[in-house]
Amino acid sequence: FEHLALSGRSVFITAGPTREPLDPVRFISNHSSGKMGYALAQAAVDAGARVKLISGPVNLEPPERVELVQVETAEQMLAASLDGLAECDLFIGAAAVADYRPVAIAEHKIKKGHEEIMELRLVKNPDIIATVAAQPQHPFTVGFAAETRDLLHYARDKLLRKQLDLVIANDVSAPGIGFNSNDNQVTLVSATTDQTLPQTSKRLLARQLIEHLADYLNHAEPT
Ligand code: C5P
Repeated sequence: FEHLALSGRSVFITAGPTREPLDPVRFISNHSSGKMGYALAQAAVDAGARVKLISGPVNLEPPERVELVQVETAEQMLAASLDGLAECDLFIGAAAVADYRPVAIAEHKIKKGHEEIMELRLVKNPDIIATVAAQPQHPFTVGFAAETRDLLHYARDKLLRKQLDLVIANDVSAPGIGFNSNDNQVTLVSATTDQTLPQTSKRLLARQLIEHLADYLNHAEPT
């Protein structure tokens, strides 16, 4: 057998948006397509890993041979991320988690009233990746930073604040990359170095990222 870069490794990947209900028929969410997380899951399987893909609602076929855990809310995504985490070697947070959720979920559909302005009360969601990175026996933890300005500054800030091992930074203001598009262009930001990879399809980029992450895990210098 050929030795694969992630043979024998367990990889958890969060992907897609979360959906935070207001009442039985409404929710707060975002436009994350899940493409990057699903492409990473495929690439990790192809590299020999056991993969748990923890996914919010998306319109994508899950890769074959992944354990797909479908969730809706950030709290469900957190619970699925912590479940079995002791086995996990590499955790990749590619989900676009809603920062806030409604304070309460109405039991019945909220009716239209006479008021012109309606106020929603929101409460902060848990930070999933920061919670994972804060576990005593935490896996190598990789986050994404999607920014429209000062990309590397915010990426390094995220790395330190959330205690991540690596941040994959992408400029979502650039046309044709990031949210919902098929292409992406990223810079790998660690505590000591930055490395920019060329723009390419999310599928090819995922393969390159998994190669780099396997190198980090195997304590080799990334190529
Ligand atoms: O803080 P920000 O949302 O910009 O950080 C993005 C990174 O953190 C992504 O890797 C995302 O998956 C992760 N994240 C998370 N839980 C949250 C918010 C973000 O895991 N509540």
